[in-house]
Amino acid sequence: MTPEIHVDLTDGVLTITLARPDKKNALTNEMYGTLADTIEKAEHDGDVRVVLVQGDGDMFTAGNDVGEFAAIAVGKGPSERHVHRFLHALAKATVPIVAAVHGKAVGMGTTMLLHCDYVLLAQDAQLITPFVNLALVPEAASSYLLPLRIGHARAFEMFAMGDPLDAQTAVAWGMANKVCANDQLRIEARQMAERIAAKPAGSLSAMKALMRQAEMLVTQMDTESAKFQERLTSAEAREAFAAFAEKRKPDFSKVSQH
Ligand code: COA
Repeated sequence: MTPEIHVDLTDGVLTITLARPDKKNALTNEMYGTLADTIEKAEHDGDVRVVLVQGDGDMFTAGNDVGEFAAIAVGKGPSERHVHRFLHALAKATVPIVAAVHGKAVGMGTTMLLHCDYVLLAQDAQLITPFVNLALVPEAASSYLLPLRIGHARAFEMFAMGDPLDAQTAVAWGMANKVCANDQLRIEARQMAERIAAKPAGSLSAMKALMRQAEMLVTQMDTESAKFQERLTSAEAREAFAAFAEKRKPDFSKVSQH
């Protein structure tokens, strides 16, 4: 259990707070481990009626820790990557999940929203999927779920260009439920979580399971993960990670594809 994830259960609402604000809540292997444990446990804990995910600091999350990507790229990654367990837990979760998003939601910060059931965005929220900019591929079954949600044309543009999507557009495109004022985000998210917690939990979880093809999502995640792993060790990805560490723009013009 890392201190960079805070977990609180009050009145049936399990609040998970990403709490690594100095690094923009970038997600480490240890954080994924705690997230996986927490969601797996919530699924079997009768006291948890709804999960609420939020982030501390000035953004929801900057996505996967790029330093850890760089370590994997040179064969120095962790022996077990907990991200897979986290993704499977998300795919299989039948407990309703509410997300409260402010500032940037990068990479996994956006793709995890495709597994949440009620997404509330603050005015300043921006959804960003820079997988191609990092020479990677989409994960979290987003290569299937995002085109399904917003159509191929928009999904291709989001993935290929990595430009931020503003909160109003995200709602208009069906990626989120509602935009609210920044200072109302936690209040409104909590209110919605409490409303959901008051519903019959068995009915809600049965409904959610019917709405999602969990096994198919897991298969898609595993297919993506194999490709993701391959891309992580490519020369293109090494250039992208080096550029991030050196705070410069990557130059892919002279890099081989492999
Ligand atoms: N992994 C590791 N560290 C990260 C990080 C990430 N994904 N995102 C931010 N950080 C770190 C920065 O390196 C910096 O650390 P330092 O203070 O030790 O130099 C600190 O968090 C603050 O980040 P900074 O870039 O100064 O903040 P910003 O507000 O100017 O920009 C972002 C925020 C999110 C736009 C920018 O940090 C960014 O592009 N991060 C990478 C996002 C990404 O590609 N994620 C992977 C998706 S698959």
